[in-house]
Amino acid sequence: MEPLRAVVPSPGADLRVEKYEPMAPQDGQVQVQLKATSLNPLDWKRIEKNLFIPSYPHVLGMDISGVVVNQGASTKFKNGERIMGIGTVGWSDGGSYQTHILIDEKNACKIPDNISFAEAATIPFAFATAACAIHLELGFPYSSANRAASPPVLIWGASGSVGNFAVQLAKLHGSQVIAVSSTRSLASAETIGADLVLDSSDPDVVSKIRSAAPNIEHVFDTIVSEASVANCTAAFGNHAGTLATAIKNTHENKSKGVQIKPVYSGNIQGKNMGPGAHEQGARLGEFAWDNLTQWLKDGDITPLKYETIRGLQSVNEGLGRLKNGEYKSKLVVEV
Ligand SMILES: NC(=O)c1ccc[n+]([C@@H]2O[C@H](COP(=O)([O-])OP(=O)(O)OC[C@H]3O[C@@H](n4cnc5c(N)ncnc54)[C@H](OP(=O)(O)O)[C@@H]3O)[C@@H](O)[C@H]2O)c1
Repeated sequence: MEPLRAVVPSPGADLRVEKYEPMAPQDGQVQVQLKATSLNPLDWKRIEKNLFIPSYPHVLGMDISGVVVNQGASTKFKNGERIMGIGTVGWSDGGSYQTHILIDEKNACKIPDNISFAEAATIPFAFATAACAIHLELGFPYSSANRAASPPVLIWGASGSVGNFAVQLAKLHGSQVIAVSSTRSLASAETIGADLVLDSSDPDVVSKIRSAAPNIEHVFDTIVSEASVANCTAAFGNHAGTLATAIKNTHENKSKGVQIKPVYSGNIQGKNMGPGAHEQGARLGEFAWDNLTQWLKDGDITPLKYETIRGLQSVNEGLGRLKNGEYKSKLVVEV
């Protein structure tokens, strides 16, 4: 396959597909030939806000699903294996919108036989973000036993990609899960496995949460609007607790006992927003990638529903659809 990549050529510009010379893997990296990737809101936001793009042309893309074609010095993966993993923000060789990608073996796992490349492409980034929310910001324990009973949790915005995996992970760790979704996505939220699914437009939504889980202390808001933050903080009642937010919250926190903590998915790659390593995140990454293959094999974690779009040339239009809300399920690009 001739190496091709979809690049952002200059600030704010449309993506352009071009030929390129892929780099060989360095220590700890393998080269993956892409079979499928999926689109994430982060990518159109990065183009629009010129975020984490050190130079142009630049390759974006966070979800890698493909075959190892150069195992380098890896002790984890071999040529020909089907693997999935997370792209690297700010480093073109590690972006997923190209045919040949370098990935750190620590941020990847094998795709089990029961999962297709397209299904695998729906998982890595949203799953990793959900894991950071549940385990790092909300502090749910993780261990190889992985079925320890955890406290009740509210996931606001459960039908989105991150929210879906947050519900699944919290259930996997023994929580009572209350999921909130908009009316249009209620039917899909009901299939994820939460104990209770509520409509965000229901005027009694907070009292229904409070009667199902009166002592709730752990909440994850994937929407982070004025309304979602107000409802999520009200759900704590007079209790202290932690509200994890998928993006930085800029709305007023009316509940003094509630600590609001933004999630940063880079933690799972051992990175901080600022300088220094995030060792707890690196340990979570090891745990998550070590277990994900088996969880998928056993059906404990299931991929997202998706719509296929074809070829790297479709990424540009797909990101536009994502930005305009013109999608009903994850957009997966097959190459
Ligand atoms: N902090 C991090 O490191 C990190 C990492 C990944 C993602 N994120 C952020 O987390 C948020 C969720 O990401 P995601 O991947 O789960 O996104 P997603 O799959 O697109 O889901 C977003 C959800 O938002 C709701 N929504 C509200 N207004 C919408 C609109 N105009 N168009 C489409 N959906 C709308 C939808 O739920 P309803 O149908 O119920 O309204 C949708 O399911 C995004 O803001 C993303 O940037 C942060």
